[in-house]
Formats: sequence, C-alpha cells, structure tokens
Amino acid sequence: MKGSNVFFSILSAHHLFILLLCLFIAGSSCLKIGETCSSNSTCDPGLSCQSCSANGNTRQRCTMIQPSSPTSKVKGLAFNKYSWLTTHNSYAQSDTGSASLSPKNQEDTVTSQLKNGVRGLMLDMYDFQNDIWLCHSFNGNCYNFTAFQPAINVLKEIETFLAANPSEIVTIFIEDYVTSPQGLTKVFNASGLREYWFPVSKMPKNGEDWPTVDEMVQQNQRLVVFTSKSSKEATEEIAYNWKYVVENQYGDDGMKAGSCPNRNESSPMNTKTISLVLQNYFKT
Ligand SMILES: *[C@@H]1O[C@H](CO)[C@@H](O)[C@H](O)[C@H]1NC(C)=O
Ligand SMILES: *[C@@H]1O[C@H](CO)[C@@H](O)[C@H](O)[C@H]1NC(C)=O
Ligand SMILES: *[C@@H]1O[C@H](CO)[C@@H](O)[C@H](O)[C@H]1NC(C)=O
Ligand SMILES: *[C@@H]1O[C@H](CO)[C@@H](O)[C@H](O)[C@H]1NC(C)=O
Repeated sequence: MKGSNVFFSILSAHHLFILLLCLFIAGSSCLKIGETCSSNSTCDPGLSCQSCSANGNTRQRCTMIQPSSPTSKVKGLAFNKYSWLTTHNSYAQSDTGSASLSPKNQEDTVTSQLKNGVRGLMLDMYDFQNDIWLCHSFNGNCYNFTAFQPAINVLKEIETFLAANPSEIVTIFIEDYVTSPQGLTKVFNASGLREYWFPVSKMPKNGEDWPTVDEMVQQNQRLVVFTSKSSKEATEEIAYNWKYVVENQYGDDGMKAGSCPNRNESSPMNTKTISLVLQNYFKT
C-alpha cells in the first residue's frame, strides 16, 4: 500500500497468570525493574529477566523492553511513513476504577506508556454519570462495574506529555459511544488538548502522504484524533476513523496466515485511497 503506516496494537493478557506464578514461586512479592533475578517469572508482570553484557551488566536483572522512537531513527518523513506503537484499551489497567467485570489489558498507566514509547492510544468513551468516562463495556452503555475512570483524567495525562515533549505526536482512536451533544468536544476542550489538535481538513483523503512529522511539530498540530462515529466529523470536526485508517480484524480471525482480513468496519487492507494502517496484533 502506498505510504502506509503501521500502528501496532498490543494487549497483554498474560499478566494475571504471570503475577500468580510470580507470587507462587517467589513466595512474597515480585522483583522490580533493575533488581537481580534468576528467572522471568520472579520479575514483576511485564518485565523479563535478562543480562546485557554490552553495557557491562553481566548479572541478570528484571528488564523492560523499550521501543526506539521511530523519529530518532530517521527524521523528517511523512507521518504515515513511521510505525507508532499503539495500545488497545490503553486505560484498562488493573489498579484503576471499579471495573470489576472488565478485562484489565494494561499493566502501565497511560503516562508510563507514553514515557516508554507508546504513541497511539485506543480509548473507549461513554456517557456516564453526567460526564465522559473510559469504560470497557457492552451494549453501548457504561455501568459501575465496567467503568474505569473519567476520560478527562487520561486526556490530561496526554496533555502533560505533549506539553513536556514538544516534538512528540500522539494519536487517539476513540471507540465512541458518546451521544451527548458536543460531549467529546467539551471533554477535549476541558483537557487543554485542543491546542494540539490536527485538523480534519489537513488529513489526506485520496491516499496521499500525510504532512511530515516536522511540519506537524512546527505547527504544534501534534494530536491526531479519530472517532468510530461517522457523524462526528460533520458535527464536531473529529475525523471518522474508517475514512483515514484501514485496520485488520482483531482476534484470531485477523491472524490468518497468508491473508490479512480487514476489521468489519474497515475498508479492505489494500484500499489505495487510505494512507494509514492499524495493525491489530492480539489474540482474543
Ligand atoms: C526471559 O525471557 C526472555 C524472552 O523470552 C529470554 O530471552 C530470557 O532468556 C529469559 N530469561 C531467563 C532467565 O530465562
Ligand atoms: C454507581 O456508583 C455511584 C457512585 O459510586 C453510585 O452513586 C450509584 O448508586 C451506583 N449505581 C449503581 C446502579 O450501583
Ligand atoms: C471548545 O473550544 C473552542 C475554542 O477553543 C470553542 O470555540 C468551542 O465553543 C468550545 N466548545 C465547547 C462545546 O465547549
Ligand atoms: C459489520 O458491520 C455492520 C455495520 O457496519 C454491522 O451491521 C454488522 O453487524 C457487523 N458484523 C459483524 C459480524 O460484526
């Protein structure tokens, strides 16, 4: 595909298992990043036990793998020429909210994800308690037991990151269940993120390249936002996801060897008029 971009979507489903294994084997608590270790299962979830002889570290320590920033490898390309690491249900962490029935897909806070190289966030937004909330829910409604936290909290974390890192670009993919009028606009306004908004009018509509990352940085248009609701492009100037992004099917059905079936809502992966590709890579 011409000028394609790869957003990687990751989901860590194994942490609970690893945590249980860790508690079982280690007896008490798990080892933190940098502590010496004997096996992967003794480290905190998300860490692995490794040595790095290249920097003289011959003892095995609990280690976190951090991707390189793509713009540190090659500068000045169009936005769609880079791969941006993306997390799925980025807000669905084990220790926030009371979402007792929802899967906890992430070990790290959004702040920590951004610090460690994540540049795309997939956020499910709902009307809930007279506000906009991040929930991992069903039937288009958020419930007490599927609610994680008010969206404003996470949007402010993103604002703080963009303010502190003036050459970084962040993309938000909203799975949008918000029906309150101007609901998303209000919460984005309140978060301070408007200041960084990349306008829909500048998004390529016929498979052209996006502006370069340098241009986006110079203009301070460093926040790209997509919604899954088509109507919001007209009503709130929030880009309709499937007009600008193709995405493979999530789950086992999207991981067929030799083919790359698109997600139901998406155009086929080889659509030439769409410049961004979101590659889902998780099992369920
Ligand atoms: C931990 O896992 C990594 C990657 O799977 C592996 O390379 C490494 O050898 C493992 N460490 C130990 C101590 O088994
Ligand atoms: C949900 O939680 C809120 C605040 O904690 C509470 O006021 C409300 O009654 C709860 N609703 C239900 C249906 O449990
Ligand atoms: C959001 O902010 C913009 C300008 O910053 C303003 O024009 C608009 O009225 C605000 N919208 C809402 C719904 O608050
Ligand atoms: C596919 O999407 C259409 C509308 O976009 C929807 O009506 C249909 O139920 C979806 N099918 C599946 C299998 O999700």
